[in-house]
Amino acid sequence: MCGIVGYVGKQNAVSIILEGLKRLEYRGYDSAGVCVEKGRKLDLVKKAGRVDNLAKAVAKHRLAGTTGIGHTRWATHGGVTDENAHPHVSSDEKFALIHNGVIENYAQIKTFLSGKGYTFQSETDTEVLCNLIAYHYAKEPARTKGHSRFVESVRKTLRHVEGTYGIAVLCVDFPGEIVGARKASPLILGVGDNEYILASDASALVSRTQNVVYLKDGEIVHLTPKNFSISTLDQADVSPVVDKITWSIADSELGKHTHFMEKEIFEQPTALENAMRGRFSADGSTAQFGGLNITASEFREMERFMFCACGTAWHACLVTEHLIERFARIPVEVDYASEFRYRNSPLDARTLFFVMSQSGETIDTLAALREAKRKGYRVMAVNNVVGSSIAREADGGIYQHVGPEVGVASTKAFTSQLLIGAMIALYVARMRDMSFSDGVGYVNALKGAPDLVRKTLKQAAKIKVIAKKYAGYNDMLFLGRLSLFPLALEGALKLKEISYIHAEGYPAAEMKHGPIALVSEKCPSVFFAPKGEIFSKIVSSMQEIKARKGPIIAITTEGSDLPKGVADDVIEIPECHEAVLPIVAAIPIQLLSYYIAVERGCDVDKPRNLAKSVTVE
Ligand code: M6R
Repeated sequence: MCGIVGYVGKQNAVSIILEGLKRLEYRGYDSAGVCVEKGRKLDLVKKAGRVDNLAKAVAKHRLAGTTGIGHTRWATHGGVTDENAHPHVSSDEKFALIHNGVIENYAQIKTFLSGKGYTFQSETDTEVLCNLIAYHYAKEPARTKGHSRFVESVRKTLRHVEGTYGIAVLCVDFPGEIVGARKASPLILGVGDNEYILASDASALVSRTQNVVYLKDGEIVHLTPKNFSISTLDQADVSPVVDKITWSIADSELGKHTHFMEKEIFEQPTALENAMRGRFSADGSTAQFGGLNITASEFREMERFMFCACGTAWHACLVTEHLIERFARIPVEVDYASEFRYRNSPLDARTLFFVMSQSGETIDTLAALREAKRKGYRVMAVNNVVGSSIAREADGGIYQHVGPEVGVASTKAFTSQLLIGAMIALYVARMRDMSFSDGVGYVNALKGAPDLVRKTLKQAAKIKVIAKKYAGYNDMLFLGRLSLFPLALEGALKLKEISYIHAEGYPAAEMKHGPIALVSEKCPSVFFAPKGEIFSKIVSSMQEIKARKGPIIAITTEGSDLPKGVADDVIEIPECHEAVLPIVAAIPIQLLSYYIAVERGCDVDKPRNLAKSVTVE
């Protein structure tokens, strides 16, 4: 959460920072600010509201300079006000600082600093950081061997801090310099042509450079107009590794679409192709993964899998559980990462631990990964963002390769997680008792998924019409069974997060045990009713809803013989293999939620109270 940008170079830092903040807005968008260092003074503009609001204030103020920092906020401590927006400035006006994360011991630090005469303008936890730096700076000898007084003051401060942070700091005594640091909050350094950009996310710097250094936890980076250096909290120098970003600015632009969510929904056929490229064996009967760092025979020894994730990724894990148990006959457990990290769950030596996370920065998922590693388990990550904390800390993993996902509501990342889950199920099943020919059939089915998704997307216009009809309701139920029960949960999550309609997902047969009390003509139900073994049972559940006057949207497979009149609206998806069904079934619920939210006039890409990656607990 929160977006950070810092710039050191020869260009106008303000416009570069504002452009970066605009691209980072999906990380938090309740307030924003920019500060430049100019003529040994700090010049600051910050405002509650969106980056556009800040841009107007910046233009009015004629803010300019070649070194600066900017921030877009997702409030944790303190309400959404101009004062609580970042950057924060120390009470001696020497330091300005932006922060992503939470300082857990801020109250003790504030009491200590208040006793020393430091004053505070905001209700944030962050403001203690710039004042603590100022405090250490005042005490620091003019030059510490090999490192500047500026860097050492930041280092000393961070040694006293409990919590998480990605920070960037300006100091009036060090024109043209920025000090940054991270602990459990992402920070990337872009190495440009005579310029450096520090950002919490590559999207803020990819328009200027594709050469990046992914900072690690506990590292401090010092930028000057001519070079940069990295050291640790313990003062050890670090040799930087410069990586290349493999996607370009065009991948993170809207193009002809109105919203990123719409763009990302329609990108899914290509995203799936990218996620499966090179991942099938030469004989076409199983999956193969390059980055697992675990041999096939070690994989074969595993007797249980544990998956941890949050939100939409957790739903993808539930589908994966179904497919692995169904095809590979290995017990799988799925837990919310936020629960697992505190639950002290028993794991045994033959358990392989997986985390799934689009961003690779979700703090709860990262904490679950660390907890599993602490207990000695090998941890595999399914993750989209190359170089993310989760990708770097896992023992091995599978990248989703779907390019940047900007819309807060996850779509293409979800279906690619479903695809990778289906491939893991195939990989393990083929090591056990799935036959060669069943393997070939499974692989061919997965290869066909992008075209089936393409075909389903052609229903967009019809789904838009249905969405208009249902946009006025305040409650909705999503019902599915087996591998489509998690899709019901996903449908409900998608709808509530972007349209603010109260929605719940249930296994269809559970309705009778309570939720059916909600059913009336005011509460529509979206049913997944694919052809298959329990089709008739699902139809019975639909009849029960119909008998209670509940409107029904049915998502069914072509030629399913859904009895006439049981559903008010029907969306057909192509018939497909069990491993592909959840991927194809995701499309109608994504489109339905999207068009309902648009119809209700909601800000689809920036839903209220949410941010794209949740880097605070
Ligand atoms: O980046 P991650 O996959 O770890 O994110 C997990 C959730 O925060 C995320 O899926 C969230 O639920 C989305 N907003 C859902 O659309």
